[in-house]
Amino acid sequence: MSVRELLDGRLVMVTGKGGTGKTTYAAALAVVGAAQGQRTVFCEIDTQRPSAAAIFGEPPPFEPVAITDKLHVCNIHWDGALVAYLTRMLPLRRLVKAVLENQVVQRVLDAAPGTREVAFLSRIGQLVEQYDLVVVDMPASGHAFSMLDILRSALDLFQSGPVRKRAIELKELFGSEAARLAFVAIPEEMVVNETIETHDRMQKADMFGGNPTCFLNRATLPSLSDDERTLLKRLWENEAIDGIGREYVRAGLWEDRLEQATAESSERLEGVFGEPPVMVPPAAAGGVPRQAVAGVAVHLARQVGIARRDLPWI
Ligand SMILES: Nc1ncnc2c1ncn2[C@@H]1O[C@H](COP(=O)(O)OP(=O)(O)OP(=O)(O)O)[C@@H](O)[C@H]1O
Ligand SMILES: [Mg+2]
Repeated sequence: MSVRELLDGRLVMVTGKGGTGKTTYAAALAVVGAAQGQRTVFCEIDTQRPSAAAIFGEPPPFEPVAITDKLHVCNIHWDGALVAYLTRMLPLRRLVKAVLENQVVQRVLDAAPGTREVAFLSRIGQLVEQYDLVVVDMPASGHAFSMLDILRSALDLFQSGPVRKRAIELKELFGSEAARLAFVAIPEEMVVNETIETHDRMQKADMFGGNPTCFLNRATLPSLSDDERTLLKRLWENEAIDGIGREYVRAGLWEDRLEQATAESSERLEGVFGEPPVMVPPAAAGGVPRQAVAGVAVHLARQVGIARRDLPWI
């Protein structure tokens, strides 16, 4: 679905292979959502390598903090997610305190398969109740799948009781039309393979509420004509061209290779997603994470009719 349709949802989860641009796109989508007037929260999930700080300044705390009027950011870390989860599940504050102070219970909770994931998803669900738009920087593909798949296992495991009740609520939310998945890929064969595999696995597991969106990051849009391509090949074969001239030809061939890779990746992704990916060129060279987010946000904003000057955070 288009960027406009994607941001029409209440919950946007961004995943993809490691290093493709998940954090950058989640942040950029949140910036655009906020610019559209939606009260938006960008969520980082307790990562080993937190990256929101490099984009928004300070490392975000568990409770969302405002970056602009409409744009908030938070980090769903384990301690906070567990407290929020227990507070929701247990009838008395006293019980929550007792559980948190009990080392044995803590260890059991830490080790129990799925507790972490359910607590994280439960927190995301809670934020959806509080915001117009929640954009989540999800873990990389395989982990994102496992995290979402936990709801199914929880329903198998708990035949009654509060965990089952919460899992049912969450399954309803994450499987609803309002919940959307966005994949970030780059024009490399291995990345495209992984994107397609994850798409197919998630589709089989019925994890898509609305249709997923695919972004092709670092896309090199076609510029060379067939004649120019033939000319480049001929120039390369001409040994009389050397020095700086040869470097120019090499640069031209490299550009051609990037364009071909983008075209091939786009075609393969379209075959699976049913529509061409949203192509985004690389932001200006030497960009720091914040600038990359700004570059991508400007590009995505244009697709929903918002100009750069109307992006408050930029
Ligand atoms: N379109 C772009 N233009 C320029 N730089 C980009 C672009 N997209 C991403 N980057 C840069 O590439 C790096 C990786 O991006 P990012 O951190 O968003 O990826 P990720 O998928 O979240 O990675 P990880 O799997 O480590 O969490 C970052 O330094 C980011 O600033
Ligand atoms: Mg990241």
